[in-house]
Amino acid sequence: MPDFDWPKDFHRIPDEDWTDAPLDPLGQRYDSMARHLWYRNLELTVEQLAEALKPGQLLIDYSGGTGILARQLLQRIAGIGTVMVDASPRFLRVALEHFRDEPRVAFRLLRYLEGERRLQGLDEVLGPAFLARKADALVSTNAVHLYPDLPGTFQAWARSVRPGGKVFVQSGDIRNPEGKPGEWLISQVVEKVREVAKEVAAEDPRYAPYRAVLEDRAKMAAYDALWRKVFLPIRPVSEYQEALTQAGFTVKDILTRTVDVGVLEWYEATSVYPDLLGWVGGSPKVDKRLPTAAEVQDRLDLLKQSFLKLFKGRDIYQSTWTYFVAER
Ligand SMILES: C[S@@+](CC[C@H](N)C(=O)[O-])C[C@H]1O[C@@H](n2cnc3c(N)ncnc32)[C@H](O)[C@@H]1O
Repeated sequence: MPDFDWPKDFHRIPDEDWTDAPLDPLGQRYDSMARHLWYRNLELTVEQLAEALKPGQLLIDYSGGTGILARQLLQRIAGIGTVMVDASPRFLRVALEHFRDEPRVAFRLLRYLEGERRLQGLDEVLGPAFLARKADALVSTNAVHLYPDLPGTFQAWARSVRPGGKVFVQSGDIRNPEGKPGEWLISQVVEKVREVAKEVAAEDPRYAPYRAVLEDRAKMAAYDALWRKVFLPIRPVSEYQEALTQAGFTVKDILTRTVDVGVLEWYEATSVYPDLLGWVGGSPKVDKRLPTAAEVQDRLDLLKQSFLKLFKGRDIYQSTWTYFVAER
């Protein structure tokens, strides 16, 4: 594979603390989900990018995470440069482990600016050498539903992508009238499984010690707030479309696909969020103490039982994925 010529004075790996940090087990655990059935949601995106990108062009993998998409792109598309941008140093550190010696991949961390109470915009982390040239395309997979500020995020993209450049955004957590009956969105599953967990806890004596807190409204509201911080309310296709348009993009296409999700794989994916069932054993953010190992195990077992009950022993359920194609 040929190398890639980065803009002059653009450094692939920034001189920042996170690049030397130890690998984070949570990040590694996320990375191992690349083999999950639901990750086939990337197939269409890879095809779209393979068609759009030519050798010598520059792609931004925004919210690139641990590099699951980037690994597929490196195999599939010759001669392009990919800048992985993410808000999580832990995830980006795992990506760096994969690609430290891969000359076609660069890395940028979006930092949270405490004083301004906002995340840095894309253009703020790319630097002048990159912005003098700008990106030919930008992709965001499995992440846009997590952005609290869609207009601000997309405006920063518009400042970083050249006129005529393409943007590919996809997610399984967008309210889409084209979704088929019986299909789920990510947050719907999570919300429902949280309800089912209360039913399971009411029936199974193993969870009797945790029942009292379910009656404590103030505590339950505090646990709910923790979960709501990660899983934002589901927004409709139109909200994404409008925010892209207002930021200066022309939305060319909106595609809908059904993606199969393994029930136990999705249990595994959600089990990385301890706050999902915070009321089982408590959360340090609410209770100022860590749950014990036994409590953590109860929480995981309850979550798993709840997934199995919700999907009535099925191995797989169907989810709606939405794909936007836009042009700067
Ligand atoms: C579910 S992972 C998807 C990672 C990768 N795109 C993939 O498909 O494998 C979501 C990613 O979004 C990032 N993220 C979360 N909130 C974000 C935000 N407000 N702005 C940018 N990235 C964010 C996370 O750090 C994480 O890497």
